[in-house]
Amino acid sequence: MLDQLQALPADPILGLAAAARADTRAEKVDLTVGIYMNEQGICPVFDAVRDAQAALAADETTKAYLPAAGVADFNTGMQELLLGADHVALQDKRVSSVSAPGGCGALRIGAEIIHAAAPGATVWVSDPTWPVHLPLLGSVGLQFSSYRYYDPSSHGVNFDAMVEDLKQAGAGDVVLLHGCCHNPCGADLTLEQWGVVADMAAAQGFLPFIDIAYQGMGDGLDADAAGLRLLAERLPEMIVAGSCSKNMGLYRERTGVTLFICRDRDNAQALVSQALVAARRIYSMPPAHGALIAGRILADAQLGEAWRTELLQMCERINGLRSTLRQKLESACDRDFAFIEKEKGMFSFLGLSAEQAVRLREEYAVYMLNSSRINVAGVNAGNIDYLAESVAAVL
Ligand SMILES: Cc1ncc(COP(=O)(O)O)c(C=O)c1O
Repeated sequence: MLDQLQALPADPILGLAAAARADTRAEKVDLTVGIYMNEQGICPVFDAVRDAQAALAADETTKAYLPAAGVADFNTGMQELLLGADHVALQDKRVSSVSAPGGCGALRIGAEIIHAAAPGATVWVSDPTWPVHLPLLGSVGLQFSSYRYYDPSSHGVNFDAMVEDLKQAGAGDVVLLHGCCHNPCGADLTLEQWGVVADMAAAQGFLPFIDIAYQGMGDGLDADAAGLRLLAERLPEMIVAGSCSKNMGLYRERTGVTLFICRDRDNAQALVSQALVAARRIYSMPPAHGALIAGRILADAQLGEAWRTELLQMCERINGLRSTLRQKLESACDRDFAFIEKEKGMFSFLGLSAEQAVRLREEYAVYMLNSSRINVAGVNAGNIDYLAESVAAVL
């Protein structure tokens, strides 16, 4: 039976990352995968995470199952982190959440809930979006439409086109929005534009589904969540999928949360019961280790402060790299790269053709996706000049 199955091609991003790892050229620059890298090219462990983990190891007396909704401090901490501790939806007690295996697990649980409520729902996704959204949500049975979002010629959001497309989304439809630091393009909505989306959702009745995997890596923890907070103030219902992979560096611990913002407390509790049954079908219970670490950080003033400071330094480094990269590219290439400085988070499209991206890889050992999406955090003082010269050479 099993021998009928053929090997499948590698995931394009992970396949490219593997090719980059195998490349032994000394000048290699790997800007493929979406993990944060420091100046030394290492994806570091946060000190606050190390401390919380040590305290957890010292205190832990059992590995027995946790309640199926996950770690209580983590759930409460994530609700407050995403919405802000004094958010009106929290005061009205119309928010609930379940822990999930990473942002992907959180998205999947959100999709399961949507499918339970409206099996034929169409999910509107931005063009482009993170490619994993499609199998992750589509395998639940949801349909997709796309709305225009990134305009390669202006290197920014084509908001008029987005609004025009979303005029077709009605009650029973879902609009998937990147909460901040859009992956792959780095171009985010302004707060005013979030307000327009909120008005459209209120008038047309579509459900916003917010994927926020990079809170704190664009303009700071609060600023990055301002759009989703605005929606949660104005709308009766929405779903948020949060992740601690990037902003706490808990990539392999699989630490995420699905938040339900509902009409009232009873509905919020009903959705938790639905989510638990959905989780039971797939993986039964969420992993605890990362949620216990994140829960400690969020519940402890000192650890929380230490984590916020480290995250801010990370965010400032990314924004600093964006400015320097813009300058280096502009002096090497005689082209306008101002958009790199305006965009948020780890990703930007450099605006190169697929042929140019392939040449960079083959001739210069500079790895980026064929779409010319780069991970800005993979740039450092040791490779930035070479990167700019290589880009200039293929342009
Ligand atoms: C847009 C987006 N959403 C969600 C995720 C979820 O990540 P994880 O499951 O590792 O928390 C990622 C990770 O790369 C992402 O880029």
